[in-house]
Amino acid sequence: MPTQPKANTHTFITSDLVKQQNTSSRPIGVFDSGIGGLSIMHCIKQQLPNENLLYVADTLNAPYGEKSTVFIQQRVNDIADWFVAKNAKAIVVACNTATVSAIDQLRQNLAIPVIGVEPAIKPAAQQSKQKKVAILVTKTTAENQRFLALVQQYSNTSEIYIQACPGLVELIEQDKKNSLDCELMLTAYLQPLIEKGVDTIVLGCTHYPLVTSLIHEICGNNITIMETAQPVTEQLQRQLIAHQLINLSTHVGSATFYSSQNSISQQQLFSHIWQQSLSLHKFP
Ligand code: DGL
Repeated sequence: MPTQPKANTHTFITSDLVKQQNTSSRPIGVFDSGIGGLSIMHCIKQQLPNENLLYVADTLNAPYGEKSTVFIQQRVNDIADWFVAKNAKAIVVACNTATVSAIDQLRQNLAIPVIGVEPAIKPAAQQSKQKKVAILVTKTTAENQRFLALVQQYSNTSEIYIQACPGLVELIEQDKKNSLDCELMLTAYLQPLIEKGVDTIVLGCTHYPLVTSLIHEICGNNITIMETAQPVTEQLQRQLIAHQLINLSTHVGSATFYSSQNSISQQQLFSHIWQQSLSLHKFP
């Protein structure tokens, strides 16, 4: 007796592929309070070059790290609604403060994958020889229960020091990351950690990778610095594959940048960090 399943399977796979081809060119929305998330955007661009990317910097409201949870949740909802209106197929919250403050409610409200940033505490605790790890975060993150619960999970194997760094994001946003002010501020935050014998520093804010070389200058090159652009990109890729949303096009995708505080100096700062001249559009 002839069997039908093969024909059925073939039909299913073909229609599935057609569906994926139709939806996969939809953009991925990436956002942060400012330029910090560009390190994650850069990693996504390198590893998923065919994807179309939208980046939103909520610069007008930066720093999120000094704002209330309610305010951050409202901004995150507004940005996510805008991405959805742009037909985004996934959203990357490229901001630790927004992730701990708003990702749970965002996931509840949206039907598309939402990827957040989680500080690399687990790998840091595993590789620290002295079993002394510091995590640099914004003030809002340092006080957040979701974040404190994550730290608690690894506190039995390592001493974990939480260091809030108020003022640092502002200096980075003002393009003063190489200034004496920035060096003095970072030294004040790092010196007590060096004295405690910390050998691993987790960057728990996406702005802080922009001052990695300054951290090395202050702490020396023996310190290990851990950030999260790579694991976030891998998680995004896994989610796109799981939801059949990978862009099947062979063409290089687009990258479009928006800021709630659009100005010539912002555009220059974005171009400098992105290492390529770009046009900055007004958000929303
Ligand atoms: N880059 C953000 C983070 O990862 C937010 C910094 C801020 O706006 O305070 O926490």
